[in-house]
Amino acid sequence: MGYREVYDTWTADPEGFWMEAARAIDWDRPPSRALFDDNAPFYEWFADARVNTCHNAVDRHVAAGHGARIALIHDSPVTGTVRHISYAELQDQVARLAGVLAARGVGLGDRVVIYMPMVPEAVVAMLACARLGAIHSVVFGGFASHELAVRIDDARPRAIIAGSCGIEPTRTIAYMPLIEGALAEATHQPDFCVIFQRDQCPAELRAGRDIDWAEAVRSAEPAPCVPVDGNHPAYILYTSGTTGQPKGVVRATAGHLVALGWTMKNIYNVDPGEVFWAASDVGWVVGHSYICYAPLIHGNTSVVFEGKPVGTPDAGTFWRVIAEHGVKSFFTAPTAFRAIKREDPEGRLIEAHDISGLRALYLAGERADPDTIEWAQRVMKVPVYDHWWQTETGWTIAGNPVGIEPLPVKIGSPTVPMPGYDVRILDRDGAEVPPGTLGAIAIKLPLPPGTLPGLWNANERFRSAYLSRFAGFYETGDAGMKDEDGYLWIMARTDDVINVAGHRLSTGAMEEVLAGHPDVAECAVVGVADAVKGQLPMGFLCLNKGCTRPHDEIVAECVARVRERIGPVAAFKLAAVVERLPKTRSGKILRATMAKVAEGAEMRVPATIDDPAILDEIRAAIRPLGYGGG
Ligand code: COA
Ligand code: AMP
Repeated sequence: MGYREVYDTWTADPEGFWMEAARAIDWDRPPSRALFDDNAPFYEWFADARVNTCHNAVDRHVAAGHGARIALIHDSPVTGTVRHISYAELQDQVARLAGVLAARGVGLGDRVVIYMPMVPEAVVAMLACARLGAIHSVVFGGFASHELAVRIDDARPRAIIAGSCGIEPTRTIAYMPLIEGALAEATHQPDFCVIFQRDQCPAELRAGRDIDWAEAVRSAEPAPCVPVDGNHPAYILYTSGTTGQPKGVVRATAGHLVALGWTMKNIYNVDPGEVFWAASDVGWVVGHSYICYAPLIHGNTSVVFEGKPVGTPDAGTFWRVIAEHGVKSFFTAPTAFRAIKREDPEGRLIEAHDISGLRALYLAGERADPDTIEWAQRVMKVPVYDHWWQTETGWTIAGNPVGIEPLPVKIGSPTVPMPGYDVRILDRDGAEVPPGTLGAIAIKLPLPPGTLPGLWNANERFRSAYLSRFAGFYETGDAGMKDEDGYLWIMARTDDVINVAGHRLSTGAMEEVLAGHPDVAECAVVGVADAVKGQLPMGFLCLNKGCTRPHDEIVAECVARVRERIGPVAAFKLAAVVERLPKTRSGKILRATMAKVAEGAEMRVPATIDDPAILDEIRAAIRPLGYGGG
């Protein structure tokens, strides 16, 4: 069957389609049906099944005789090490860590916050939680204490599992001070912390609270897999929304297993035993789905890469990893390729590596610009497939179903909706627009298995943020169009979320931090185009009347403040003091207009603007930063 037939099979019988896909999973009690819609618009999948994620990702492969197969390859140019972990070793490590947690009371439904760098132990920690039916919430290492505290207070974990440090190319980041800072700020406190000590910067453990991972695991009783209900939350992953309070995206167990299992062959075109590499971070959804869960569920070898596309040690690192480990299918964000292209425009460094075993490159996380795609095609000599998805969906909404049938690539489009997704382009009133017309991208409910059933402790927010604008649809927050061939084109966000180096960030959260500066009366943060990172945040600060302090000082304090409160990942380095902000006559800040001014783009002055002269003031204020055009 080709793509069209497969998609039509799903349309004709969604229930049958997903029950068929469910056959790839080992069930403790098979589902009696796929969709549970009694609580619509809160849909559930395979709710009456009993299943364990860790069993499906690890134990069943060992039981099937594949214990010696490599499950994880830790390739760490920042420490100069490469480590292979077989499925049998992974099973032992996971079962023992689960034993450590279980012995201290962690069980079904308890939350565990994981704050770890890109080491295989991060995957072990996630799987150990899954083994017990505990719900993990991984926090990206580039977030600061405050962001960690916000997540601790929302998830209320019984335990925290952390590494002692992360290693960036230019510095080692001790995690313990960040954890202490978070716990000092949070009202909720965990019962205990398990610390994975790294030689580069061991942490001082606090007696009575902290447990040394290696020591505890050595003497631990391995814990068995605990079957859970199909709709039991597997994890919570916080993502940026429009405010400083992140959204806790929930992933339900059974749908996650079925959907991710389905994607490995149909989208990424790999068979069990082959090497798959997603160069992302376990702190993001790509890391959850494609470093940890999907490759393991499918019986692949997954590469855990601790390094950067450039500078560890050079722009040839990706090629080395692909060649050395025999990667068949590779997934990363376009920003990584822009960084490589800047360092090695001719792609010379690839010549030293034989990447002929690679079948394809997959890009996601942000818009893949044509230049980057064409460069990657030319240098790597493999097909380059853009695909579009979100933390909320956990897997591809639109992509190229290569394992079913490779569709012609249209550069700039992530191709077509996957089975399970009925994607529509809607106008302001919720009416579908004709092909080629821009609109809000919405997905007809129910969303497929593996997507979010709701937000952690915030179902009203789930409803208002995603389900209320268009009745019967999930609002993606992206705008774009469909062409005559049914290809999707993703153009922009419709909210205040920006995408910096493939990282999703909230300008609203940054504005909250800036507004807390004692001299700032009002502010706005917008995303401006950047050649490598896609977008960069830029802040505009209006100071309190009578403030006579040097502007440079205030700007520097604001930059430091965002780094301290949100973290280095915000990459907030551009800010300017302005007299006033451009607003509509009804008082709404014209952020999109400010971004256009900053980028020096051709623009029509909005008819609703209160005073057009402000735009010249803005332009003048950001010229010293190298923005504003001319
Ligand atoms: N822990 C601590 N700090 C981190 C971190 C982590 N896990 N990840 C990033 N940071 C820091 C960086 O060191 C940098 O700090 P600096 O301001 O002191 O230089 C800052 O956060 C910004 O990081 P980043 O935006 O990643 O920029 P970079 O200049 O270090 O690297 C790229 C740029 C493009 C090479 C890099 O962003 C990259 O590899 N991106 C891949 C995209 C990706 O993985 N996306 C995930 C979704 S698929
Ligand atoms: P995240 O939740 O961090 O994965 O970010 C999801 C958002 O990133 C989407 O809503 C889009 O705005 C953007 N995005 C992800 N993949 C793509 C893509 N292939 N093309 C365009 N935008 C993308």
